[in-house]
Amino acid sequence: MQFVEANGARIPAIGLGTWELRGRTCARLVEQALKLGYRHIDTAQIYENEREVGEGLRASGVRRDDVFVTTKIWTTHFAPNDLERSTKESLARLRLSAVDLLLLHWPNPHVPLAETLGALAHVKRLGMSRHIGVSNFTVALVEEAVALCPEPLACDQVEYHPYLGQTKVREACARHGLAVVAYSPVAKGRIKNDRTLARIGQVHHKTAAQVCLRWLVQQNVSAIPRTSKIERLSENIDIFDFELSQEEMHQVFQLASAGGRLNDFGFAPKWD
Ligand SMILES: NC(=O)c1ccc[n+]([C@@H]2O[C@H](COP(=O)([O-])OP(=O)(O)OC[C@H]3O[C@@H](n4cnc5c(N)ncnc54)[C@H](OP(=O)(O)O)[C@@H]3O)[C@@H](O)[C@H]2O)c1
Repeated sequence: MQFVEANGARIPAIGLGTWELRGRTCARLVEQALKLGYRHIDTAQIYENEREVGEGLRASGVRRDDVFVTTKIWTTHFAPNDLERSTKESLARLRLSAVDLLLLHWPNPHVPLAETLGALAHVKRLGMSRHIGVSNFTVALVEEAVALCPEPLACDQVEYHPYLGQTKVREACARHGLAVVAYSPVAKGRIKNDRTLARIGQVHHKTAAQVCLRWLVQQNVSAIPRTSKIERLSENIDIFDFELSQEEMHQVFQLASAGGRLNDFGFAPKWD
């Protein structure tokens, strides 16, 4: 496993995304993923599966300290008292004394950012999270957050895959030492049929998804692909035994369309 280092955090380069994984399926996938060598699990309050993520973690037998657990605070809990209370509730559901990374899930213009970041830094100082960060923050918001936050931010978790370039957000994160954590890293499965990725994969005896994930980690990005299929868990982590050439990296970069694509919320995000 490779790690992405950012403002004191050491984030495993591949993690398991858990959005839409629920109940027994979620607990079983988390358990299996950890048994297969995953050391990074991504959940969120809004996914309603923190309890099952905790169950999977305990069932795996992997030592708590060897796993990097991220959760995210939903936007309705951004007022300072709410943030602290809801963090405690997340920890109770996970049955953990602390998470490794606690993120603001989306920007919320209705609560002053300085207050929310102050509260986020406070829960970190109380020991409820080892690191803190943001998600879905644009360049302008990253700049603002870095200036306002009393504690260093470890990452901006954003949608990033070969069809969405994210150049400016990546540059802003690099400027401030934040890691980029790529969500929807296999473009929700769309990359499976990509001819360029499949062609590059043939050379390395890898699938299109593996080429896509390798392309991300070779940029020092952490990627959190989700799957509901046990067999794909191994496929998505089996990417550390080959390397893409500069030319192959370039060919994948070329796939990003100029204007970005519509995301699941029906709009092309204006990250820049
Ligand atoms: N911060 C945020 O606002 C935010 C937003 C979205 C997501 N996330 C996080 O990022 C994680 C990943 O993003 P995502 O779930 O949106 O999308 P994703 O991981 O890009 O794609 C998941 C989809 O791709 C398929 N898939 C996975 N591995 C595959 C492979 N090797 N070959 C072919 N298809 C494959 C899965 O199908 P099967 O289940 O059939 O394998 C699933 O339908 C989430 O689970 C969540 O933890 C965060």
